[in-house]
Amino acid sequence: MARAEKNVYRCQACGHKSPKWLGRCPECGEWNTLAEEREAPKRASAPSVFSVPEPLSKIHSAAGGRTSTGMGELDRILGGGVVMGSVVLVGGDPGIGKSTILLQAASKMPGPALYVSAEESAEQIKARAERLGIDEGPIVVLTEISLEHILAEARSLNPAALIVDSIQTVYTEDLSGAPGSVGQVRESAAKLMRFAKTTGVPVFIVGHVTKEGMIAGPRVLEHIVDTVLYFEGHKGQTFRILRAVKNRFGSTNEIGVFEMTDAGLAEVENPSELFLAERPVNVSGSVVAASMEGTRPLLVELQALVSPSTYSVSRRSSLGIDFQRVGMILAVLEKVAGVHLAATDVFLNVVGGLKIEEPALDLAVCASVVSSLREKPVPPETFTFGEIGLSGEVRAVNHAEARLKEASKIGLKKAVIPRGNLEKLKSKACGLEITGVKDVHEAIEALFD
Ligand code: TYD
Ligand code: MG
Repeated sequence: MARAEKNVYRCQACGHKSPKWLGRCPECGEWNTLAEEREAPKRASAPSVFSVPEPLSKIHSAAGGRTSTGMGELDRILGGGVVMGSVVLVGGDPGIGKSTILLQAASKMPGPALYVSAEESAEQIKARAERLGIDEGPIVVLTEISLEHILAEARSLNPAALIVDSIQTVYTEDLSGAPGSVGQVRESAAKLMRFAKTTGVPVFIVGHVTKEGMIAGPRVLEHIVDTVLYFEGHKGQTFRILRAVKNRFGSTNEIGVFEMTDAGLAEVENPSELFLAERPVNVSGSVVAASMEGTRPLLVELQALVSPSTYSVSRRSSLGIDFQRVGMILAVLEKVAGVHLAATDVFLNVVGGLKIEEPALDLAVCASVVSSLREKPVPPETFTFGEIGLSGEVRAVNHAEARLKEASKIGLKKAVIPRGNLEKLKSKACGLEITGVKDVHEAIEALFD
């Protein structure tokens, strides 16, 4: 394909357009923000085919046709299999398992899938497939970096799915920028999107999260693609969490838990058990919280370490949980419950590398901080959930029943939950001894006395 003559450079910060690349945007003064893009050709005349309004009831739903990836957890995160003609971005740190999961899924698709590798050789892929025990499967491998060539092959093959590993290493001939530049990454993704929509072939795109700046990382694609899945967790751990942060065809924040084994990623049947497996018993600062990830209840261990500050400014840090939120809860504890934390350092960690965003973890934050400060363990069979308001009130959260059920399933006995939730539960106590609390005072009393 001939290189398009009219490419322009657009500032990612202010939208300023320039005919040539510049290090600094003359409009807003930001450095390194100009990215190449294709100038849309001006139409000679108005298009001859217009869209016509249609009654909603006559339109066929796009989310009808789904196909299974053969991996139960992956299907579940996607909302029950991958939608035909949709584009799924799989992002994460290098080495976390993106290629592995997609190769595994490719081998289990109902027909031959086209696995395009732009960063590994066919031999490397074969070696991985042997390791996964799927080398006899119907996968077709293509090692190629030209997107035009990839799309031509995909059109003639009409595969069950197209997998592009990775978006940062393919390039489209329409732009002159190097593979991995913002313009290239975005234009390539847009082309893959058009391919998916016109052929109905589901497309999986791998995107590396780059350490130095997120500029050409998966972030710039999030609004283009239909579904965005990110791997969480550390390479040092054996388990991996795959989270749907965007899904046009399913609910977001759905997570799947996998374990990296000798033979690839294996689905974890009971993640709550896994996350609580190494929990120290009768140690202060450790608390079990019942959280919800999408539609799935998940029990996690929250740890706090409260120690006297050695500096004039006390330190606060949190891993896996929103720092601002923690600051707010500490302030509420200080002001409303008389828990003095001004001269202490506070460290919080959600065990297992999980990131939890919901406010239902507030009570567990409060419990673990008080437990560590007073060096008083929370009984090991007790768990908690609930949101804390600025005046110290404990507010009801959603899905209380699902949380209680999950806890009862893995053998926990006592729950400290918002009174608002308890009142609505009626007889569905799941065999647990439940205390309903209305503010942090009552919560601390219920947990420690
Ligand atoms: P990979 O899928 O190549 O990561 P990404 O594509 O996200 O960069 O995964 C690589 C890591 O997974 C590597 O450290 C080796 C490990 N691994 C296993 O432990 N077991 C396996 O069966 C496979 C295929 C990889
Ligand atoms: Mg890879």
